[in-house]
Amino acid sequence: MAPLNQDAKRFYVTTPIYYVNDAPHIGHAYTTVSADCLARFKRLKGMDVLFLTGTDEHGEKVQKAALSAGLSPIEFADKVNLRFVELWKKLDISNDSFIRTTEERHKRAVKAFWKVISEKGLIYKGEYEDWYCTPCENFLTETQLAAGKCPDCGRPVQKLKEESYFFKLSDYGGVLLDAINSGELVIQPDSKRNEVTSFLKDGLRDLSISRTTFSWGIPVPGDDKHVMYVWFDALTNYLSATGYPDVALRWPVDVHIIGKDILRFHAVYWTAFLMAAGLALPKKIFAHGWWTIDNEKMSKSKGNVVDPQAVVDRYGVDQFRYFLMREVPFGLDGDFSIKALEGRINADLANDLGNLLSRTVSMIEKYRKGEVPSECASHALDTGRYLKDALPDMAKTYAGNMDALEFHKALDVIWVFVRKLNAFVDEAAPWKLAKEEGAAQARLSNVLYTLAEGLRIIAVCAYPFMPSSAEKMWLSLGMDARIANVDFDKATAWGGLKDGLRVQKGASLFPRIE
Ligand code: MSP
Repeated sequence: MAPLNQDAKRFYVTTPIYYVNDAPHIGHAYTTVSADCLARFKRLKGMDVLFLTGTDEHGEKVQKAALSAGLSPIEFADKVNLRFVELWKKLDISNDSFIRTTEERHKRAVKAFWKVISEKGLIYKGEYEDWYCTPCENFLTETQLAAGKCPDCGRPVQKLKEESYFFKLSDYGGVLLDAINSGELVIQPDSKRNEVTSFLKDGLRDLSISRTTFSWGIPVPGDDKHVMYVWFDALTNYLSATGYPDVALRWPVDVHIIGKDILRFHAVYWTAFLMAAGLALPKKIFAHGWWTIDNEKMSKSKGNVVDPQAVVDRYGVDQFRYFLMREVPFGLDGDFSIKALEGRINADLANDLGNLLSRTVSMIEKYRKGEVPSECASHALDTGRYLKDALPDMAKTYAGNMDALEFHKALDVIWVFVRKLNAFVDEAAPWKLAKEEGAAQARLSNVLYTLAEGLRIIAVCAYPFMPSSAEKMWLSLGMDARIANVDFDKATAWGGLKDGLRVQKGASLFPRIE
């Protein structure tokens, strides 16, 4: 983990930790890419970021998957864990820490967390007799079942009757409602917050937090006949990665980004555990929507599971990241299709942005021997003035959207500007100015400067979404410092391109898909 910078403002963002029962798919990639965009933006804002992701390796589901693969649970977990690690590398994920629930630091933290709650008298032994959905790792009552199946995933459930430790969840409905209503705990989007509050209003039952009928888990302190319920184990990863129980300087977390299916575990169980342990609540929980594939639910049995690795190999990392964040408002459900992906690549990336960069660089090469011209001070010559004037607003709106996790809006703001610059090229017709002498030459310099400078700022805003393409844009405009190290506020102020920088024509930024 990166050392803590005492002066900088801290920002802690997490993804869920992913089950290792199966290979990573587009849903996992979505949560992780979104958290990466946020983390990268916050770093540009000068914050000391802890971006955590990881793998959830215990529980009945993983044990069963290992068994059918003919491996021991840890051998199996090691194997699948690697696939996540590799995928994150491939997707340019900049996580600062990666936690596995089979690591010693995690087991130690969970045991300590259990003990603190237990010593407060909030855990008791009893018997659990009801239903369990192993794919969801979720306890269910008879009335919650939908036609005898799991109401969430639709798969068969199993009847359990076993000794179990219970957490006094029933104590927490009222206090959690208060925390949500007072704004201490923010749950977004609003529709999801409403779901949680109505669930809380119905009243909470105590929660079974241990199992005895399988062994792949963390033993309950003082009673190793029991392993901890996998969600008790998994949720605590957010603390163990901060060094809990020794130091928890990073706590509370600024935002847990999760999918809508696991909202209750985070907004009700996790928050209640934290209150029980006397720890601060997460500041925000953001539940994003789900992807369908060609308007169908993604499932192994349908054979339509999207492998992010394959999409990236065919279309490129930044293209995939861009699509995920642009296509669907964050918080709503969306549909993935190759047609939509190709459409976005050709229209937004190749036509709008890629062309603008290549035209700009070519014109600077052709009309100014590859040197970024200086901007001419005279207002009369300043044909692109309105673009320059629009910038502070655009950077501010963009930053506000990023802070609010409105990624699609942030991208939209960038593209409105990209389109304005494209329209400006046609309007200013540099190829005509190039044929004239005198004032037209000063005007041409201004036009070229405006385009290049606009693109430089676009690169900064695009960076959290498309880190390597933004870096390429940056380099082709002649900038040398690494874009990852810039300060957002300074880098989005007009005038960062100094005259005399040499543009460099690189390979096409976003090749068209034919
Ligand atoms: N291990 C738990 C989380 C524990 S967090 C303390 C878990 N793991 S998971 O492997 O099932 O992956 C969960 C994440 O993937 C969730 O955020 C979930 O919403 C997301 N997705 C799974 N399928 C998805 C789609 N089809 N679309 C979008 N996201 C989806 O749950």
